[in-house]
Amino acid sequence: MTNPPVTVTTLRDMKRKVEKFACLTAYDAAFARLIDEAGVEVILVGDSLGMVIQGRGTTVPVTMDDMVYHSQCVARGCGRALLMVDMPFMSYAILEQALRNAARLMQEGGAHIVKLEGGAEQAGIVRQLAERGVPVCAHLGLQPQSVHKLGGYRVQGRDAAAAQRMCDDALALAAAGADLLLLECVPAPLAARITQSVDVPVIGIGAGPACDGQVLVLHDMLGITSGKRPKFSRDFMQDNPTPQAAIAAYAHAVKSGAFPGPEHTFS
Ligand code: KIV
Repeated sequence: MTNPPVTVTTLRDMKRKVEKFACLTAYDAAFARLIDEAGVEVILVGDSLGMVIQGRGTTVPVTMDDMVYHSQCVARGCGRALLMVDMPFMSYAILEQALRNAARLMQEGGAHIVKLEGGAEQAGIVRQLAERGVPVCAHLGLQPQSVHKLGGYRVQGRDAAAAQRMCDDALALAAAGADLLLLECVPAPLAARITQSVDVPVIGIGAGPACDGQVLVLHDMLGITSGKRPKFSRDFMQDNPTPQAAIAAYAHAVKSGAFPGPEHTFS
């Protein structure tokens, strides 16, 4: 018997049962198929494609057409996994635009859930999307689309005021109807506090082991990212002979709690 498709309800049930789930980025059908076959629950078509596929310096230049094209490719290789797709920079700045662009990602791209960056200020848009049947993941902590405003990529929520703001943002987004939260580059104790305080599943990247799920950028975990690999990532090709084996080892390490270790975590 084949496993049923993963839905936001599946992930909510897994959180309730304290079962960890895995997520990986993909940008094409071939890797999507390998990731899906490895039992990874969520495939993210990340706007990180700006860097890892297009060779750009940030995610800012990525367009809606780019996201739709790569979603279509990934959807063709995706069988059971939940397909999450990033809304790119400025594609959800105003409500009408957010609704139209989320519809494009679902209707043309095949997305099951869209992801957008921001805190409580996005709660209105999240609510409007949720009320129209669009599942949403809200991306908190380091928000790469704001890199020029932030002045660089660094850990977020380090001081007490910023940590409290992030907790409040998480609660506001969950109350607005977000189905998933994603925390990027957040100290592990703060990520644990947020994960415990909301019913919705929380995916972490550089956010410690307490999150309900983990995500990595595919090219980082295959060791083919140019330049320095982020501290929170791990090159699974170091101990595995093929990409298939590396992806399976990643899924296993996440589900067993072996990844992330203390060396991948910010305190
Ligand atoms: O674009 C992306 O790949 C992401 C991950 C870093 C979570 O948002």
